[in-house]
Parts: sequence; C-alpha cells; structure tokens
Amino acid sequence: MCGIVGYIGKRNAYPILIKGLHRLEYRGYDSAGVALINPEGQLNIYKAKGKVAELESFAADKDTGGTIGIAHTRWATHGEPNTVNAHPHYSESERLAIIHNGIIENYAVLKAGLTKEGYSFKSETDTEVLVQLVEYTQVNKHVDLKTAVQLALQQVIGAYAIAILDKEHPDTLIAARKGSPLVVGIGDDEYFLASDATPIVEYTDKVIYIDDEEVVCLQAGKEVDITTINNVAKTPEIKRLELSLSQLEKGGYPHFMLKEIFEQPRTLTDSMRGRVNVRQDNIALSGFIDNKERFLNAKRIIITACGTSWHAGLIAMYAIEEFAQIPVEVEYSSEFRYRKPVINKDDVVIAISQSGETADTLAAIQLAKEKGAFIFSICNVVGASIPRVSDSGCYTHVGPEIGVASTKAFTAQVVALTMLALCIGREKGTLNQKDYLKIVRELGQIPDKIQRVLGQNKRIADFAKTFTYAQNFIYLGRGYNFPVAMEGALKLKEISYIHAEGYPAAEMKHGPIALISQEMPVVVVAPHCGTYEKVVSNIQEIKARKGRVIAVVTVGDKLVSKIADYVIEVPETEECLTPLLTVVPLQLLAYHIAVVKGCDVDQPRNLAKSVTVE
Ligand code: AGP
Repeated sequence: MCGIVGYIGKRNAYPILIKGLHRLEYRGYDSAGVALINPEGQLNIYKAKGKVAELESFAADKDTGGTIGIAHTRWATHGEPNTVNAHPHYSESERLAIIHNGIIENYAVLKAGLTKEGYSFKSETDTEVLVQLVEYTQVNKHVDLKTAVQLALQQVIGAYAIAILDKEHPDTLIAARKGSPLVVGIGDDEYFLASDATPIVEYTDKVIYIDDEEVVCLQAGKEVDITTINNVAKTPEIKRLELSLSQLEKGGYPHFMLKEIFEQPRTLTDSMRGRVNVRQDNIALSGFIDNKERFLNAKRIIITACGTSWHAGLIAMYAIEEFAQIPVEVEYSSEFRYRKPVINKDDVVIAISQSGETADTLAAIQLAKEKGAFIFSICNVVGASIPRVSDSGCYTHVGPEIGVASTKAFTAQVVALTMLALCIGREKGTLNQKDYLKIVRELGQIPDKIQRVLGQNKRIADFAKTFTYAQNFIYLGRGYNFPVAMEGALKLKEISYIHAEGYPAAEMKHGPIALISQEMPVVVVAPHCGTYEKVVSNIQEIKARKGRVIAVVTVGDKLVSKIADYVIEVPETEECLTPLLTVVPLQLLAYHIAVVKGCDVDQPRNLAKSVTVE
C-alpha cells in the first residue's frame, strides 16, 4: 500500500527519495510524487500517474534541487489514481506540502468546515483536507507547524502516517503516525523517514520506530524530537536494523517471487535456527516457554489473519487440535473484528501476519485485547505494529518478502505454528514422546526436501505453458492439504489473473463438479495421507468427465500417476508437514503461468503487499 519517504540533511534529497520510492514499489501503488524545498526556498511538487519511472521522466527537466524533501507512492482509496489525486498535496497558500498513508474517516465533516472558511480543494482526496486543516490551524491559532499538526490530528478519526514540509521552515520535517507504520533512520547530521526500513538500510542501521499518536520533528544537526499529539514528550528509542542491502536485491533471479520461492530451504533453516534442536530432539520456542500457562490453560485458541496468513492459520488448526487437543477457530480478521465475537479471558488469540501491519488483523488484536485474551503473534517484519501490540509471539525470520504474492513467509508461518502446536502438545501430554520426536526430526529434514522439490522447477515451467489458455482453475485437497489447495488457487489468481478456487476435495460433488470439462484444469494435492484413497476417487471422477488433472503426489505414487495428466512428486514426510512440500510446486506453477502470460509477477495489478487500510 502507499509508501512514504523523507529526507533532511546535507545531501541532495531527490536521488535519495527516488531510490527510496523504488525500494517501496513492492508495496503496490498507482501513482507517485515528490516535494522538495530548493535552496531559494521554493516548494516544488512533481507528480505522475503510474510507476516511479514515469515520475522520474516527468521531473527530468525540472528543478529537483534541495536538501529536504518528501516522496510518496499512492494506492488509491479516495479518488481515482491520477496526477491530481497523487501525493504530495499543497495547502491552500501552497506553503505546506503533505504526503499521507491511511484513511481520514471524518474527512467529509472536516472538509465541509474548511469549505465554509473559504478553503477550496483541487483533489478528491482525504489527504488534501488534512493539509488544509493544518494550515488553517497554523494561521488561525498562530501556532508553529508542530503544534498545528498536533491540534489538527486531535480532530482526525482514522489512520495515518504523514510527513509535512513548510517552505517557511526549510530546516524542519514533521511526521506523525496512527495505525500506519513510520520509521526514522538516523544518519550523520541527517535523517531519513520511511514507511519501512527498506529505503533506509543503505544509509544507516540506526532507526526509531514511531508509535501511534506520536509526532516527530526532524531538524538536521539537532536531536530527534518526539511528542504525542497531546504534546507529551517521549524519549526516542534507537534500535539497530537487522537487514542487509543484498536481501532487497533480486540476486540474479528474474523476479523477487522466484528468488523467494528458491530461498525457502534457507529461510526455513533460519526460522528453525535456535528453536528446533534435532540432536537434542527438542523444540524451544521462547514465546511459548515464557507464557506456558496461558497456553496450557486455554479453553480455546482463536487464530486470526488475512489471505495467505489465514491459510497458514487453517493448517495450524489441524495441527493444534491433533497435537494439543484444544479447540481452534480460524477467523478472517476483517469478519472477526465486526461480528461481535465471544472472546473470553482464558482464550489465546494467535494473530498471523507477514507484514505485521495489516489493518484488519491489528484491529482484531485490539478487540481481543480489550476482552482480556492473551495475544500471541506470528510475524515476519521485526518491529512492526502487530508484534508490538501483542503479549508475546514468534518472528519467522525469513528476511524481507518483496514479491506481493507471499511464498517464503507462508512456509515459515506453517513451521512456526507447527512448532507451537508441538510445544503445547508435549507440555500438555496430549502428544506422545514417540510422535513428538518423529516430527521434530522430520522438521529438520524439510529444507533438504524442499530443495528436492525445487529441482522440478524446469519441468513445471515446461508444462505450465500448456495451461495459459485456461480461464478457470480448481484446486482440491483434503485435511492438511485443503488449505494448500486454497493457497495454490490464491497464488494463481493474484499473479496470473486466472480465476481459481480452492476446495476440500470431497466438496467437489456438492457443486464444483458441474464445472469440470476439458477446458477446466484441476490441480489435486494428493500426497500419501489419511484420505489419499478418497482423493484418488475424486481424481477418477474428474477424469470420467474429461477434466485435465495436475496432481501433486508423494514420490513413488502408483495410483494417481496412472490417471493424472501431469504429476509432480514431493518427498515422503509426516502428514502434518506435507503442506511445506506440496505448496512449493503450486507456487512455481502459478509463477510460470503468470510469466508466460506476461504478467507483472512481483507487482500484480490492484494488489498491495501490506494492506494498511480496511
Ligand atoms: C498473499 O499472497 C497476499 N498478498 C495476501 O493475501 C496477504 O497474505 C494478506 O494481505 C495478509 O498479509 P499479512 O500476512 O502481511 O498480514
């Protein structure tokens, strides 16, 4: 979703801002813009619809001088994606410029009040209302910019991360956040500002994560000044970034998504490092150990997440109920937060989020917290909002996931949740030692086994070409592999724009079977699991109706291999771990179909990497 970059210091700001916008492109956007105060004190704004490259072409012959500036990539919420609605926005007198992520929910009321005061608006955005409100406050209350921002934000309902420039004060950059992330990078007599650390990492590893309702005032050569919107002073907490520049590059792969699929053997090793000890046959998960009683006394576990993370949650439901025998409910965060759910003090809520910034998941956590539940989060981005508001949790440590379609984060979420299920089960005594040890040892083998699945990439790429004609796909799976079917379908629709649905295989007869024909490819996830024979029967039913079957099976499979049109083999493993292997060919299949169709794999249309608005 929208991205913010800011700079104040001694260097020329423009190249830093543009590079920063490129680093944030993965978040998804539809227009871009930049504002700079040049050495003569002029506040210049340049904007363009489309990619950052369009902005660069537009600004190529313009004055891009200045050592202070802000820049933005916009993902449209209020008003269509065009140049007028793109950020930055000027205030009425063109003294101020603002960029904003989030949604000002009461913008219509504020706009009506400002219109009465004679203010006019050029765009359809809620953001322009905010900058006008700041200027109105500055002028009418005779206060400085920081105070005007504080007073204006006190009137705002909604979510925001903002950055503001004032040409009357070319030495000051003001920013603030509520519900939308913001990070300050501390350089040598200079400051960087961004929605996440990716634009900052090449300049400094010292950062401050801004908290909700905080206003930060940055002036080159002066200490960072942080206050709340009610003007209470805060002490900045400087953190060290654990992010390297090479993690943000494609490393020779044509797309980030392919790089991230291929990284999985390593990322899962990283996720398990220090946690799964195969030699000692043990799993040590500190977030669990420190809060053991909460899990052991839980009457119920509620898992809340969105999209791919929700699919990981569904797999966890099978594992937790099997090993720990605690009832589990898996909820879409967006539904959970609004449906007046019954939440008890002895419930444990597990929130799953790659980005740690998903607005619906954050709101679901807040609701559960208010009801006294214990919040455990599984998150990838260190320091993001979700882990910060949780009681405890577990980072997945897979490094930045840049491709919009989540791949390596999903497998790491499944590993983290499986480790948690095993820990609870063993501690409760509901999982016997023999089974526990078998699975722990097998977890250690998973990275090598994924490597073997990746060895089939070329074959998958070859037969993927056959399916680019398809308008629709069905994905089927059962048990632990039903969520994998849904995840495979989500991957395909996200990046290739082919309609795809994931179903529990046995549900096929209750409707979807009507769709089966030669034109409808059916992907069946059929490893050797408890329901294998039943899935084989489903495949026979599909073949009887001339459907074309792509099957993911366990190596050495005899039955499915005879009847399916295309077969992809994965190594044998424990049933609860099969999703970690079976999902990989589905990631590759979606990727190759999208590439042959010429789609923008890493930045699919309309999608945002981190969904920070409802
Ligand atoms: C996955 O490929 C999607 N891009 C999307 O469904 C994503 O998983 C969802 O938006 C949740 O994001 P989060 O994990 O960052 O909360």
